[in-house]
Amino acid sequence: MSIITLSSWVDAKAALRNRDLRQGLYDEGVALMHGVIVNLHGAEHNARRRLENRLFRRDTFAFWEKDLIPHNIYESIQPHIVGGQVDLLQLARLTMMRISAGIAGIDLGTDPDRFSLLADIMASLARASSVNHFIGDKQSVIEQGNAALELFAKEFFEPARKNRLALIEQVSQQTKSADDLPKDVLTTLLVNHDNLEISDESLLHEIAYFPWVGSHSTSGAFVNLMDHIFEWIRHNPNDREKLVNDISLLQRFGFESLRLNPASPESSRVAVADTTLESGVLISQDTRVTIDMRAANRDVKVFGSDSDQFNPFREIPEGIAAWGLSFGSGFHACIGQELVSGLESQPADSEISLTGAIATMAQIVLSHGAIVDPQNPPRRDEQSARKNWLSYPVIFRSPTTL
Ligand code: HEM
Repeated sequence: MSIITLSSWVDAKAALRNRDLRQGLYDEGVALMHGVIVNLHGAEHNARRRLENRLFRRDTFAFWEKDLIPHNIYESIQPHIVGGQVDLLQLARLTMMRISAGIAGIDLGTDPDRFSLLADIMASLARASSVNHFIGDKQSVIEQGNAALELFAKEFFEPARKNRLALIEQVSQQTKSADDLPKDVLTTLLVNHDNLEISDESLLHEIAYFPWVGSHSTSGAFVNLMDHIFEWIRHNPNDREKLVNDISLLQRFGFESLRLNPASPESSRVAVADTTLESGVLISQDTRVTIDMRAANRDVKVFGSDSDQFNPFREIPEGIAAWGLSFGSGFHACIGQELVSGLESQPADSEISLTGAIATMAQIVLSHGAIVDPQNPPRRDEQSARKNWLSYPVIFRSPTTL
């Protein structure tokens, strides 16, 4: 199979939007990713996306952003506010996992042990699904992923499915209204099961995908944002208060951080037919296309000669997203983007304003006086080409002593 790498903004964006290029990132993690929305192509993808789009509504995002996320974050940091230490990665990961599990249709209840079990399972699934980027013993990562999927099926998926099938049966017996059904991916796919022809295996994969994709990418983006914020404050100590009091400024910091640090530094596609990009690049059938997201997001033609620098005040050309291609583009573009980073500009004519989960979380921890823990420096995962964070400990100082 021949390989081509695209690094310019124009080619990267065109490739992501090209319908002759199928998803290729999960070919090595296919045991877990077969049948998952991000791995579907053509009509099958369109049908799944149309259904799931309905669940990602701005009014729901607004409730999570203004209510659920602050409540969760505050509950988690509250015991540590005076002098205690919190790992920002875990804080965001667990908060977003609760939300993403709810989107998927997993009933978690209040038992903290169940939640820890889900978090452990998701850590294994995340690693195994993105095994393409793993540097080291890939086979053992895949085996751990398969075992985690089996446990997920038994402990979480089967009980949730049984519960929802019973509710759907009540609707067909007219003892329950369709409006009372849970608004989650599992229920939606079960209700539309016959039209979609989705196999049991694909259904399991889809439900297992949401909790980790929603929590791991968002917590990584949040920690990257905090890292840039702490660096900024080191150079501009007086800006700390400005940031705490201006969520739209934090949001702009978030866009710029997302642009510089795409969750996946490379995307991958495979040509299902011969195709030509607008720039004239020819891609013949079966070619593997590597899209260098990091390079495209730093293309000087689009983001200027200082594109490598963190500058949240940079001028972004008309029609270009401030976060670059970090949420993808076109038909596979991230379904959770507005939940994570909000609206690029708040609509004047609507009541719903969204500034996004990462800016919301940043505001809360900064307002409680978070600083990098001088005794425990942050750590990155050297075994993954993604260089994900392993931990980012902070301590809380009284805001008045900062
Ligand atoms: C900072 C956080 C996030 C980042 C950087 C991110 C990034 C991305 C990217 C780049 C894609 C496109 C993949 C491709 O074209 O190959 C994508 C797709 C997707 N994302 Fe996200 N994502 C984030 C958070 C979330 C959240 C919170 C959810 C849901 C709870 C989510 C659900 C999805 C889904 C379902 C897709 C597949 C869409 C499709 O194939 O039609 N993501 N994401």
